[in-house]
Amino acid sequence: MSDKFKLPARYGAGEASIWVQYIEFVAKHKPAVNLGQGFPDYPPPEHVTKALSEIATGENFLLNQYTRGYGHPRLVQNLSKVYSPLINRQLDPMNEILVTNGAYEALFSAILGHVDTGDEVIVIEPFFDCYDFMIRSAGGTPRFIPLKPKATEGVQTSNSWVLDEKELTSLFNSKTKMLILNTPHNPLGKVFNRQELELIANLCKKHNVLCLSDEVYEWMVYEPNKHIRIATLPDMWERTITIGSAGKTFSVTGWKIGWAYGPVNLMKNLQVVHQNCVYTCCTPVQEAVARSFEFELSRINTPECYFNSITRELISKRDYLVKVLRENGFNPTVPDGGYFIIADWTKLKDKIDLSSERDKYQDYRFTKKFAKESGVLVIPPSAFYSEPHKSLGENFARFCFIKKDDNLALAEKLLKEWNAKK
Ligand SMILES: Cc1ncc(COP(=O)(O)O)c(C=O)c1O
Repeated sequence: MSDKFKLPARYGAGEASIWVQYIEFVAKHKPAVNLGQGFPDYPPPEHVTKALSEIATGENFLLNQYTRGYGHPRLVQNLSKVYSPLINRQLDPMNEILVTNGAYEALFSAILGHVDTGDEVIVIEPFFDCYDFMIRSAGGTPRFIPLKPKATEGVQTSNSWVLDEKELTSLFNSKTKMLILNTPHNPLGKVFNRQELELIANLCKKHNVLCLSDEVYEWMVYEPNKHIRIATLPDMWERTITIGSAGKTFSVTGWKIGWAYGPVNLMKNLQVVHQNCVYTCCTPVQEAVARSFEFELSRINTPECYFNSITRELISKRDYLVKVLRENGFNPTVPDGGYFIIADWTKLKDKIDLSSERDKYQDYRFTKKFAKESGVLVIPPSAFYSEPHKSLGENFARFCFIKKDDNLALAEKLLKEWNAKK
């Protein structure tokens, strides 16, 4: 009986993901400050939430019913208006864009729609944890390559984490179907530069490989870095699927609307997966995201446009948290994009007794014990590595800084108090 109902082998051991585990941890231990999961703890832009509240009770009651399966027309049209100038080509809203249930489902549809049994997919570590699961459930094999920190003097920034060219080249072979890129990167905050993207692009072209580019943090890039869309590199459009997220773009992660865009022949495969599992995403939320884009498009090149103001808002939070971490025994890598900081905690090793924690990896033990003692919850980065490479993440903890200033100040107070007790 029990054997008959076991989890199908394609889903592996079926362990709870890091997010499920740490949300349960929060419910049980109620840390005073949650710098764990990547969402803002302050209100989204007013025009965004106002749009949604007006839609549900507005005159057009049909906005509460099913809409076009591949994407609500007003949303795909606005996505085309936003991205066409950025990728230097006219995006066909009806055929080259798919609206999905968050970037998560865009990843799922792209991976399940393209990866077949026996295919290999190159994944850059650390990686957003669901990539691995999705590749395996499609019958593929992930081939991992870690970004490694260069030995630098002075301040460590995310861009000093680099790929080894020889190692990357050696992963490409006749079975390679796809490479997954994430820029700006979670959790490092690395913004891949042109030279790095060219290396990846040239290998993809040489070996006829697709590039799945997860760009959900595309608007959060700190000067002088620039976000470069790999789809804009020569001859990359035809082999690139790019993913974005309304949750990250408008600071509404609970809305779970995302999208993928790319050439028609590649997008067809995603549509097949999407139409048979999700079929269509929430209409009023898509309408609200469409109106939010319209609002931002009307002020696109002004400092007030949210795509510009979010970076200003975040950079002071980043710098504040970097300073707090340094003053309290952590060694942070300063991120060039996104809203996470990876910080080495090993200088605090002698101050914390991890023997009561049962987890296999020491960053899990550290983050749990630290949260119980200090009241500050952060995420263990070994969750973003494949099993053989988990040790590369064990000395670090991931801090999210898209949090209100009061909570960042509370984190500072708690870190100071924790240090003083030790
Ligand atoms: C790199 C990356 N990709 C995808 C996602 C999922 O985005 P969404 O909430 O739109 O599904 C996240 C969310 O944290 C992420 O960090």
